[in-house]
Amino acid sequence: MTHLRINPSILAADFVNLEAELQRIASADAVHVDVMDNHFVPNLTLGLPIVQRIQQVSPLPLDVHLMIEDADRWAPQYAEAGAASVTFHAEAAAAPVKLARELRDAGAKAGMALRPATPMEPYLDMLGELDMLLVMTVEPGFGGQSFLDLTLPKIRRAADAIRGAALPLVIQVDGGITEETILRAADAGATVFVAGSSVYGADDAAAAITALRSAAGQ
Ligand code: DX5
Ligand code: ZN
Repeated sequence: MTHLRINPSILAADFVNLEAELQRIASADAVHVDVMDNHFVPNLTLGLPIVQRIQQVSPLPLDVHLMIEDADRWAPQYAEAGAASVTFHAEAAAAPVKLARELRDAGAKAGMALRPATPMEPYLDMLGELDMLLVMTVEPGFGGQSFLDLTLPKIRRAADAIRGAALPLVIQVDGGITEETILRAADAGATVFVAGSSVYGADDAAAAITALRSAAGQ
């Protein structure tokens, strides 16, 4: 059985106590770090110096999600900072194939994200350049939004294409992942789940992670 990965998003954590907040999710698979620039999305979070510091203290690998313009220019620096995976948005990259190769050359897994209304078909021929396809299940920018079921057919089509071409990349979903929604995304073919509010909003984050795994059938 495929191991389902739970990557809690620190967007919902207490930013003043990040080191302790990272310890709360030690039973997860990676920590999801949302970088927002107030241009690609109407919100601002954190940037490279803070990601470098998180990298130094985190017990878990870093799964960096860049919601920034001009990804071609900035994304490689996050790979050089030691992030295990760096995901840029297809809508914000001028040369996504070149960028994916640069990320891999810098030692990171290369991820590419699609907003809910961005189709996956134009990117079919470059799936082999990626280690992860992130299908956003909310509009990027904010935590605590409701899961968009209209993204499920896209997850299914991506999973079919990946299976059909026997590619090793995984599908990540991000936004509105809860005990109620996770199974729908898993059934459609996602195996990596980002969860912000449903993990950090719980009194017991470890129990919330376990509950998500079992709700996804694991
Ligand atoms: C949204 C971010 C998500 C966010 C998810 O733009 O990319 O990672 O933290 O938060 P929840 O799980 O609360 O929807
Ligand atoms: Zn994210």
